[in-house]
Amino acid sequence: MSTSWKPDSWQSRIAQQQPIYENESEVGSVLQSLASLPPLVTAWEVDKLQKKLAEAAAGNAFVLQGGDCSESFDDCNAMTILRKLKVLIQMSLVLICGSKQRIVRIGRIAGQYAKPRSANTETREGVELPTYRGDIINRSGFTKDDREPNPQLLLRAYERSALTINYIRALSEGGFADLHHPENWDLEFVRNTPGSRKYQELLESLSDSIRFMEVVSAGETEQLSRVDFFTSHEGLHLLFEQALTRTDQRQRGYYNLSTHLPWIGDRTRAIDGAHVEYFRGIRNPIGIKVGNTIASDELIDLIKVLNPENIPGRLTLIHRFGAEKIASRLPMLADAVKRSNLNVLWSCDPMHGNTQATRNGFKTRSFDDITSEIITAFRIHKDCGTRLSGIHLELTGEDVTECVGGPANLTESDLPRDYRSQVDPRLNYEQAMEIAFLLAEEMKSPA
Ligand code: PEP
Ligand code: CO
Repeated sequence: MSTSWKPDSWQSRIAQQQPIYENESEVGSVLQSLASLPPLVTAWEVDKLQKKLAEAAAGNAFVLQGGDCSESFDDCNAMTILRKLKVLIQMSLVLICGSKQRIVRIGRIAGQYAKPRSANTETREGVELPTYRGDIINRSGFTKDDREPNPQLLLRAYERSALTINYIRALSEGGFADLHHPENWDLEFVRNTPGSRKYQELLESLSDSIRFMEVVSAGETEQLSRVDFFTSHEGLHLLFEQALTRTDQRQRGYYNLSTHLPWIGDRTRAIDGAHVEYFRGIRNPIGIKVGNTIASDELIDLIKVLNPENIPGRLTLIHRFGAEKIASRLPMLADAVKRSNLNVLWSCDPMHGNTQATRNGFKTRSFDDITSEIITAFRIHKDCGTRLSGIHLELTGEDVTECVGGPANLTESDLPRDYRSQVDPRLNYEQAMEIAFLLAEEMKSPA
């Protein structure tokens, strides 16, 4: 691995999952525009997140990362953004009460627009078209025009990301996020479930819980009127990521200032590939998805390339094996990382190894598989002497019907009622809250 790195040095490597644009000069001028626009986040915020991740890896905080599989441009509206922020804050309140720890909140939001796909084309009734790769690349409709990669969508994605992060910042700076008024935090459209009763009790105890406030605000109660919230997305579309890569004011190096925490997907983590080359040179904390095909040696090599100075908080390993496979994959990886004394934060994505197709043609995930993978992950890390310090979920604040099971016990026949995702199935509001209670229980049990 060469040591000279530049924001474009990835271009000499093989880049998987990139769109092929017809009009290269249009791409060039779009990238130039992007490069001249202001960043979406700052290096100070990025550094702050890295410190928090280091605290979490050391056992003093827990990371809650969640949001859509893929954001859609149409969903860039006040209510949808507010509900996503709300469910993540509500989940974090449950986790704080359960774990008595700080929770680092990170949305898959304000830039989660590019999707890796398992096939390059999709065929419907004998018609074959390029697959939908996320709103930053093409459109989900099934016409030739919809599926043609369009470079202008890079600018639209930047704008939507900016609008989204602007609203999140406004909401989390006060008013909406004011924890002095827990009555604002009532559950929406959740039935009379055991979970909603537990949540009500929690809200009641919250009002006079000084300890709770101290955990949230490090003792400064005026800070209770705002919450920290960070953004993340898969850094898949490398031309876009490069255009938002900037030197910081102190000229200490390059940051990807399109998001706080970019991650490398399971399909693009080849050690000699373009994504790893790009990611090794940016100063952000970064994530890597770790799936079933990675060998221990490969993981160790990858960690050393991406975090050669072994900086705490720099690297989050997001494992996603599936409920069935986790027990045969995670122990050896956790053990290998531990034996090599490498600093990583372990997070569990219980979504991407548990996707199934239903008989009626939907992609779904079972709530039971998701909870089983979470429980097994806690147990394995405990047995290995490592610590599960984070969770990575695909969820929404809406009442969708995409994953089966959960408090309302959704079945396959419920899925057509309100299935909205163009890509992977998300936990709905009620299912997401139930997962928060499960996590809180797991985190209570002694290490
Ligand atoms: C995702 O997080 O949406 C995703 C595609 O995950 P993975 O890279 O783990 O398959
Ligand atoms: Co997904």
